[in-house]
Amino acid sequence: MSGHGPATPMTAHKSNPLSGVAHVPGDKSISHRALILGALAVGETRITGLLEGQDVLDTAKAMRAFGAEVTQHGPGDWSVHGVGVGGFAEPAQVIDCGNSGTGVRLIMGAMATTPIAATFTGDASLNKRPMGRVTDPLALFGAKAYGRSGGRLPLTLIGAAEPVPVRYNLPMPSAQVKSAVLLAGLNAPGETVVIETEATRDHTERMLRGFGAKIRVEDSPEGRLITLTGQPELSAQRVAVPRDPSSAAFPVCAALMVQGSEILVPGVSQNPTRNGVFLTLQEMGADLVLENPREEGGEPVADLRVRFSALQGIEVPPERAASMIDEYPILSALAATAQGKTVMRGIKELRVKESDRIDAMARGLEACGVRIEETEDSLTVYGMEVVPGGATVQTHLDHRIAMSFLCLGMATQAPITVDDASPIITSFPIFKALMTGLGAQISG
Ligand code: S3P
Repeated sequence: MSGHGPATPMTAHKSNPLSGVAHVPGDKSISHRALILGALAVGETRITGLLEGQDVLDTAKAMRAFGAEVTQHGPGDWSVHGVGVGGFAEPAQVIDCGNSGTGVRLIMGAMATTPIAATFTGDASLNKRPMGRVTDPLALFGAKAYGRSGGRLPLTLIGAAEPVPVRYNLPMPSAQVKSAVLLAGLNAPGETVVIETEATRDHTERMLRGFGAKIRVEDSPEGRLITLTGQPELSAQRVAVPRDPSSAAFPVCAALMVQGSEILVPGVSQNPTRNGVFLTLQEMGADLVLENPREEGGEPVADLRVRFSALQGIEVPPERAASMIDEYPILSALAATAQGKTVMRGIKELRVKESDRIDAMARGLEACGVRIEETEDSLTVYGMEVVPGGATVQTHLDHRIAMSFLCLGMATQAPITVDDASPIITSFPIFKALMTGLGAQISG
C-alpha cells in the first residue's frame, strides 16, 4: 500500500474513567516473523493470533509473491505452505511493503542469499528510511542492492548466487538488521555470526530455534554473540502469537492518565527484550500489576491490571532503550501528566522510525502547551498538573504518534486532534473500537 488515501483526522476528548478488559491484537514483530519463517519452512505452518494490521498483511502478500501459499482461515488464524530454505521464486511484481520497516528489512534478508531479483517499495514514510543498514551486511553475503541515494527505497536487490557466511558486528541496536542478517545466513553455507552490544528483541532467534535451525546464543566480551548454522531444513510449526506489548502500552498508559480508571489487558508478552516500558511505568509509581504470569507459544506472558495513578517523572535508564524503543512516544505523552520531569536519553534510533519520533513528539507536545527539551538523542518532558491540549498534531504517517496523542487527549483540558489517524491500521486496526469500548471519547 504505497498509495496513501486521504488524511483522516481524529479527535480525543476528556474521558470519563476507563474500565473493562482490553484484548489488544497479536504481536507485530512475531507476526511478521511467523509468516516469513513459515514461507521458508517445508510443510504447513499454522499461525493463531496473527496481527491483521496492514504491515503484516503486506508481508503476507509479499510471501505469496515469493511463492509461498498463504491462507486466512478465520480471524487471526492463518496457514503458510512454505517453499523451503533457498526455495523463494522470483516475484513478478514490485514488492510493496507499505509502511513497514520490519517487513521490508526482514524480507530483503530472507531473499538475499537466493539467486533471484526483487524490487521493493513502500509509502512516503518507508521510502525515506535508511536501508543501507541492511543492504551493507547483505552485500557481505554477495547480494547487490541498487537503490535511490542514501540506499533508500525503491530498491532492487539481487540475491547472491554463491553466498558466503558472514560475521557481523551490529553498528546500531536494531533487531531488524540482526534479523535480516540471520535470515540471509539461512541459505549460506557454514556459520553466520551476528554480534550485538545491546540486546534487542530476540523473536527471530527464538523462532528460528522453534523451526529447527541450529542457533547458539552466548555472552562474550564482544557482546551477545549469535551463531546460526546455514542451510538447515526448517520444519513447519504451530505458532501462537502473544498479544503485543507495544500495543498494550496505549490502553495501559491511557488508564494511568485518566482519573478513576481500572482496566485489565490479558495475555501480553513479557519477553524481557520488550517489557522495558512496564518496568519504567512501575518506577514512575504506576499501579500496574502483572497477574497470572505464564508461558504461551514460547513467550512469557501476563495479564496486566492497571489503575489510574499519580505518576512521578523519572530518568529512564538509557540501557533500557532497546527493550522499549517503540514505547517512547506514548511514554512522552504520559510524562506530560506526571509530576516533575521525565528524561529519556540514548534514543537516537527514534529519529529513523516511521517518523522522526523525537521531533514529532516534541512539536506535538509543545502544541499542547507542554514544555520539552530536545537534543539529537534525548527528550525531556516537563509534566504539568493540567495539560492544556487543544491542538491539532501532525502525525507524519506514524501510527504510534497518532495513538500517543489520542491517548493524551483523553486526559487534557481541551481535546487533541491528530491530523491523520489512518496509519493506525498498520499495527492496531481496532484501536478506536477498543478504546471507545473502555469508555474513551474519540470522534472522527
Ligand atoms: C522491530 C524492531 C525495531 C522496532 C520495530 C520492530 C522488529 O526496529 O522499532 O517496530 O520487529 O524487529 P529496529 O530494528 O529499527 O530497532
